Amino acid sequence: MTNELKIRDKISNQVKELFNLRGKQTKKSGIDFLNYSGSIYDHDEINAIINSLLDGWLGIGEKSNKFQKEFAIYNDLKYCLVTNSGSSSSLLAITALCSKETKNYCKPGDEIITPASTFPTTLNPIIQNNLIPVFVDVELGTYNIDANSLEHAISEKTKGIMLTHVLGNPNEMDKIKKIVERYNLFLIEDCCDALGSTYKGQKVGTWGDFATHSFFPAHHMTMGEGGAILTNNLQLKRTAQSIRDWGRDCYCEFNERNPNGACKKRFEFEINGDKIDHRYVYSNIGYNLKPLELQCAMALEQLKKLPTFIRQRKRNFKILYDELEHLDSIFILPRFLKDSEVSWFAFTLTIRENINIKRAELQQYLEKNKIQTRVLFAGNILKHPAYRDINYKIIGKLSNSDKIFKNSFFVGVYPGLSEENMIYIASKIKKFVNNHNLTNF
Ligand SMILES: Cc1ncc(COP(=O)(O)O)c(C=O)c1O
Repeated sequence: MTNELKIRDKISNQVKELFNLRGKQTKKSGIDFLNYSGSIYDHDEINAIINSLLDGWLGIGEKSNKFQKEFAIYNDLKYCLVTNSGSSSSLLAITALCSKETKNYCKPGDEIITPASTFPTTLNPIIQNNLIPVFVDVELGTYNIDANSLEHAISEKTKGIMLTHVLGNPNEMDKIKKIVERYNLFLIEDCCDALGSTYKGQKVGTWGDFATHSFFPAHHMTMGEGGAILTNNLQLKRTAQSIRDWGRDCYCEFNERNPNGACKKRFEFEINGDKIDHRYVYSNIGYNLKPLELQCAMALEQLKKLPTFIRQRKRNFKILYDELEHLDSIFILPRFLKDSEVSWFAFTLTIRENINIKRAELQQYLEKNKIQTRVLFAGNILKHPAYRDINYKIIGKLSNSDKIFKNSFFVGVYPGLSEENMIYIASKIKKFVNNHNLTNF
């Protein structure tokens, strides 16, 4: 073993020792804060990060490539590009659909159908690309688009659908796919909260043109900050890569060895008769949305643990569901389609309309009892100040999105919470209801 390897080995062992010393991090109900989500990692990830730094390659490289390949395989898709966030992935997806390189590309004024109850940066790229969002309402319980009413939103200007599998819950993808095919639409699936979920045995993200993912610490796996965009279409992948990487036309990998590039014509490229190095030809109005190599080194370790994380999320969800099922007349409980296998992000409750409970009061009560709560994204996003002056269309009424804005919230099911923590969360919700004399226990 070289001296360098010996020192690295020593560092790795010391990091491991430190995590052993800390022991398994468990939360004491009522004493520790029970977050709605959080990152779970140990010496495996920290050592992967340290080794990546010591390897001396900071920008995306070998480990990023390996992660892209493995993540694509996990998601049953051909191509994956890592990004610096889920938001960046959505921006890339919509911007790629507006690139002239894309067949039947979207032009300013074209319409994209999207749910009114949404996450801001799932919607924002539609606005940022001068497209018109067409808002449809969502269902209570699943918090997803009502696939049956989707067709009412189609006009001559409709170019695509941008949807989210809300908190892990798959949309009714077979119905949506039929509409997409009938009207020749683009489809983007925001899978940021739904890593590992399937509908009719098929992974979310595989039904449309692009899938987007987030590796923010709250999500199913993390790389600190980060994201990914996936597709089965090579041209869309190249366009998204170009937009991610400053708008460059070149699609060489970081380790391309052919001096004439992957296209083999690197120095033969001409613009108006002038020869120019193809590596620095810009074919899209791009950004730089790349993560660091060390983040992908961490993600490779997280991916190995993902099946366990998902199992724990499902277990925690079931405990809470079983404990709260009898409160069905007070709260709308989470609902999912019978053909879906849900990799849950969180557990949502919506206070029923005729029930005399104020959401803020319940949230305050839970937070006081060290249970973190969060409202469901933006609810009806049109109610927020940023969206007051945008151009948009609404289909029908957005009454469920309004109800979510007012009456929905969620608590966590992430792997950092034990079975005992889940029972505690349920007990506090029941106690609050009991204190309000709404039902007897
Ligand atoms: C459904 C959904 N889409 C997109 C995002 C944005 O991801 P990021 O925070 O990585 O930008 C989030 C954020 O957490 C999300 O929940």
